[in-house]
Amino acid sequence: MADFSEKVIYQIYPKSFQDSNGDGIGDLKGIIRRLDYLKDLGVDYLWLTPIFPSPQRDNGYDVADYCSVNPMYGTMEDVEELIAEGRKRGIGLMFDMVFNHTSTEHVWFQKALAGEKKYQDYYMFRDGEPDQPPTNWVSKFGGPAWEYVPSLKKWYLHLFDVTQADLNWENPAVREELKQVIRFWKEKGIQGFRFDVVNLISKPEVFENDYEGDGRRFYTDGRHVHEFLKELVADTGIADMITVGEMSSTSLENCVRYSNPAEKELSMCFSFHHLKVDYKDGQKWELMEPDRMALKGLFKTWQEGMQAGHGWNALFWCNHDQPRIVSRLGDEKTYWKESAKMLAASIHLMRGTPYIYQGEEIGMQNPHYQSIEKYRDVESINYYRILMEQGKSQEETLEILAARSRDDGRTPMQWDGQANAGFSQSEPWIPMGDTSQEITVEKQLGDETSILSFYKKLVALRKELPVIARGDIAMIEAENADVLAYRRTLDDQELIVWNNLTGGETEVGAPEGTGWKLVLGNYEDGQAEGNADGRMRLRPYETVALGRNL
Ligand code: GLC
Ligand code: CA
Repeated sequence: MADFSEKVIYQIYPKSFQDSNGDGIGDLKGIIRRLDYLKDLGVDYLWLTPIFPSPQRDNGYDVADYCSVNPMYGTMEDVEELIAEGRKRGIGLMFDMVFNHTSTEHVWFQKALAGEKKYQDYYMFRDGEPDQPPTNWVSKFGGPAWEYVPSLKKWYLHLFDVTQADLNWENPAVREELKQVIRFWKEKGIQGFRFDVVNLISKPEVFENDYEGDGRRFYTDGRHVHEFLKELVADTGIADMITVGEMSSTSLENCVRYSNPAEKELSMCFSFHHLKVDYKDGQKWELMEPDRMALKGLFKTWQEGMQAGHGWNALFWCNHDQPRIVSRLGDEKTYWKESAKMLAASIHLMRGTPYIYQGEEIGMQNPHYQSIEKYRDVESINYYRILMEQGKSQEETLEILAARSRDDGRTPMQWDGQANAGFSQSEPWIPMGDTSQEITVEKQLGDETSILSFYKKLVALRKELPVIARGDIAMIEAENADVLAYRRTLDDQELIVWNNLTGGETEVGAPEGTGWKLVLGNYEDGQAEGNADGRMRLRPYETVALGRNL
């Protein structure tokens, strides 16, 4: 299997990236217009979230047709042009395959509803009475995971929205259909794939109630998931392409298997445990200060554990489902620049393949919406109601949404000082963030000290220094909760990276021996000083990377 250790991937949420025809919705032509910007950033692949026909209940993760383009985004010719223009610039395109479920508007589901047995077997239908769902499982967007269809006297499973019906992967015909989708896009010239919640595809043989949780333990990393992935990859010939699986509530053991090249499943995995360290009692909708010790522990587990098992991590803080990281773990006000850079360095210098989510490279922040009308996301709108029903005040509910909503990451890309920050000439489909005039690409492009320039440096460093791409990793400074630090080694090359996660000062052990040189820092006036007692002082949110024999 191919090696993607030197690559950097840029994630585009097309709806919010660049509008080209003034309808307030980003589109493919808009992406084409920004390819030079992306080339300048140095990224190797663009992952586009789904651009297929879809009723957009879940912004395209409810796919109604896997092999066409949603007119809202453009045409098949636009996709072809994007592929060709990307290729000219050495940038490959990755498409997002949502294979756990389809939209209920997909023709397969429509035929199932119309009574065709063949298509009913494409989904998870179960006979039953209207007052008796097959299990007590809960949908990930809130409410029951089953929906009753009176005309069929059957329930169907939807782990996500009621319009996202889970596919039946046990049915070989379904697996064949999905392979055809891969072949179709591969032939078009798509160079890699991201597989949406792909560790949920294999459901249990018998459905039972979950009295301890929401049901996820019965279908997460399910019984045939590795088999199904191997088959999909082998039969579509994508083993050497870049592939990443989104793994929901997964385990290290499983991710080692998904991404160990010998298994011929996927190139790498997204796991999310490190993005739950500010969930109180594991609850997304309960606020808590981030637990830094837990964060360090998770990186130790996933960095060292994946290494030991020859697995490969996708490195990321942000995506279209997450709040902005500088608002979450950084300090948007006093140390906006420093903390955004520190957070970037902390993952880009780790072992794995880094992902940059649109706007992250300029330190975009949460939008701080103050009313429910501004939100578009189905999960956020559901939980607004659920939290209010639980008796929370409107104020508290809005505060929780402002910190946790998926819309935090979905506000339009901020390009320049024009109306709507250059995203669109008319009102965007979702309101702009409240710092859309201050934080723009335009302001950062020529500035050596900008967050954008720092990201460029990180992307370039990974290609320059083999120790970053291919070195081993060991976490250090285990006792210091304030610092996320690690040592990378490759033959005699060494790199040590310290990241102060806090707005206060802290001390770390200076490296032993001689020959250390500053590789990277996020303060303009040089690096933190070592003192005589072998300690090194780090300023607020300071990153220091020292290397030798590089
Ligand atoms: C993934 C996507 C998310 C979507 C969900 C259901 O988690 O990233 O946006 O809502 O799957 O498809
Ligand atoms: Ca448009």
